[in-house]
Amino acid sequence: MSKIETVVDWLLSSNKTVVLTGAGMSTESGVPDFRSASGWWTKTDPQKVATVDALKTDYPLFHEFYSMRIQLLEKCAPHKGHYILADWEKKGVLHHLATQNVDGFHLQAGNKNVDELHGSIYTFRCHSCGRSAAKEAFLAMESCAYCNGRLRPNVVLFGEMLPEKAWMSALSNIQRADVVIVIGTSLEVYPVNQLPMMTKGKKVYINKEIASHATYFDCILEGKAKEVLLEINEQLEKRR
Ligand code: OAD
Repeated sequence: MSKIETVVDWLLSSNKTVVLTGAGMSTESGVPDFRSASGWWTKTDPQKVATVDALKTDYPLFHEFYSMRIQLLEKCAPHKGHYILADWEKKGVLHHLATQNVDGFHLQAGNKNVDELHGSIYTFRCHSCGRSAAKEAFLAMESCAYCNGRLRPNVVLFGEMLPEKAWMSALSNIQRADVVIVIGTSLEVYPVNQLPMMTKGKKVYINKEIASHATYFDCILEGKAKEVLLEINEQLEKRR
């Protein structure tokens, strides 16, 4: 039996399947990941742009980095792999999805049960008073209309806590899962990289490059997210 057939078997007998995604899920949509050769962190030091310290000490650079990512996302869209995951949710094959991605592509594709563990780049707030702000105000580098504070996207910066509701939801769903499929993440960032180990279910890892520490998975599918999901979906359709 091939690895794909094994995964399809697990999916068909699972009462609860959870998918956890990272930036590699969106590279085939034209969005760079962070740690690959063409990733953001090979060109830019995350400490200088993605921390609270960066926001406080070099706001123009912080602002430039997030504005660039927002503008890039305007030209990108979910790919077939995202739509397969949305279709699986509609058909009851997938029950929950947690993502480190801030691009909103899973929601755009139609998944409903989504935990955005690192927030969303499409909504904004004042870093000082927390009131929400408009995208246009952020892009124009305006200050908060209420307290004159600095505006920021609702993404998690390094050193910040993850949104509690999303974290608790992802954790409890993964703990109760029969199958967890992890897609397109280097598993380098804490605490999300702990989540796959929290399940007693089968653990599947779909990634372009397989990290040496990914030894605890029951099945490893080395390849691109969209291509592997298309293969699994094809087999799944034949068997349903
Ligand atoms: P990384 O850039 O660390 O890892 C992405 C992984 O996806 C790499 O292992 C790639 O080999 C793989 N990959 C790239 N393209 C792929 C494709 N088409 N199909 C399958 N795999 C592919 O991104 P994350 O693990 O998501 O957080 O990074 C986690 C967090 O670190 C991000 O959410 C972000 C970042 O700093 C914050 O900014 C707080």
